[in-house]
Amino acid sequence: MASTLLTGIAELTTNDDELGRLRDAAVVVDGDLVAWVGEASAAPAADELVDVGGRAVLPGWVDSHTHLVFAGDRTAEFEARMAGEAYAAGGIGVTVAATRAATDAELAANLDRLADEALRGGTTALETKTGYGLTVADELRSARIAAGRADSVTFLGAHLVPAEVSDDEAYVDLVVGDMLAAVAPHVDAVDVFCERGAFDERQSRRVLEAARATGLALRVHGNQLGPGPGVRLAVELGALSVDHVAFLDEEEVLLLAESWHGGRGTVATVLPACDLSTRMPLAPARRLLDAGAVVAIATNCNPGTSYTTSMAFCVATAVLQMGLTIEEAVRAATLGGAVAIDRDAPRIGPDGRALAPLGRIRPGARADLQVLDAPSIAHLAYRPGVPLVHALWRAGERVV
Ligand code: NIG
Repeated sequence: MASTLLTGIAELTTNDDELGRLRDAAVVVDGDLVAWVGEASAAPAADELVDVGGRAVLPGWVDSHTHLVFAGDRTAEFEARMAGEAYAAGGIGVTVAATRAATDAELAANLDRLADEALRGGTTALETKTGYGLTVADELRSARIAAGRADSVTFLGAHLVPAEVSDDEAYVDLVVGDMLAAVAPHVDAVDVFCERGAFDERQSRRVLEAARATGLALRVHGNQLGPGPGVRLAVELGALSVDHVAFLDEEEVLLLAESWHGGRGTVATVLPACDLSTRMPLAPARRLLDAGAVVAIATNCNPGTSYTTSMAFCVATAVLQMGLTIEEAVRAATLGGAVAIDRDAPRIGPDGRALAPLGRIRPGARADLQVLDAPSIAHLAYRPGVPLVHALWRAGERVV
């Protein structure tokens, strides 16, 4: 693959502690990797030259929390919610029924439709989950379909006890037994919806401990609809992330911050579009950052609580309504997401191939670069709702 020199960069957000945010910068992409970053005046020659014309360049979004393997639509539920009805976890069952009734090709086509939409919006890496199948066969096909498209796949068999199962404990037995064994070769992580109306603390612990014994990473849906044990459990068991975190007390905020003292901790993933779309309080991202926690911003794209693929919308909301600076929000939606899916450093993939790190623009990183039709990342919040992706490279390939 030829090398490309991107020049004419008015502002380059690298997320690299040494490189920082550069003005009048240039980047060289070689193959699927970033090969060089620095001031335009010092740029080396490359096979091709692209002048981005005084625009801002930043890493592609890393959306670390989505549920894209599903069928059907829940417009009526959304409309009812906007007319005052409360969100209840039980709505998941509607999507489970539609997903089970869909063919593999229909599920894959819907995933591609949403992943393509996300890509056009600047998302160059995404995680997605199972969790709308809830039988061994349906979770397995969901995991396989997800693995065909996503950068990271999470098993969420513990999303809800399906309507046809009357014994919750028997369902948890199935999740930690046959279901986990079937999906394990296709997923990187295991998640549990630890919430009133879904799985309690003891059941969640069973799921997470079984996952850990299998060598998979852990995630938790926690503290979404009210206070609960999700955050404590996630930190105690060393989960990669705990997601939602809308209801946190000061101790939980500190626990998340302290989880990073002396090693890798648990990322607090906030999901602003979901908070808005369920009329829940916005997660306390400002308090989390002030305490020293590592925060990721993700879309939580799913047909129930957050039907958007737009990371730019989430970033604008984080700035305008959650009190983050532009730089903090962009970092959380890029590097924060990469940390949440354990892809901020080089890794070896399941097939033994090397995986380049995500979320930064520096030599050796995967060349995932978005060029905004704006001179600065500030425009992401200054011009909310305006599609600003002017050009996009994913793994060195120009896709927009
Ligand atoms: O992250 N919290 C649980 N799962 C999804 C909701 C899924 C649904 O309602 O379909 C979420 O919000």
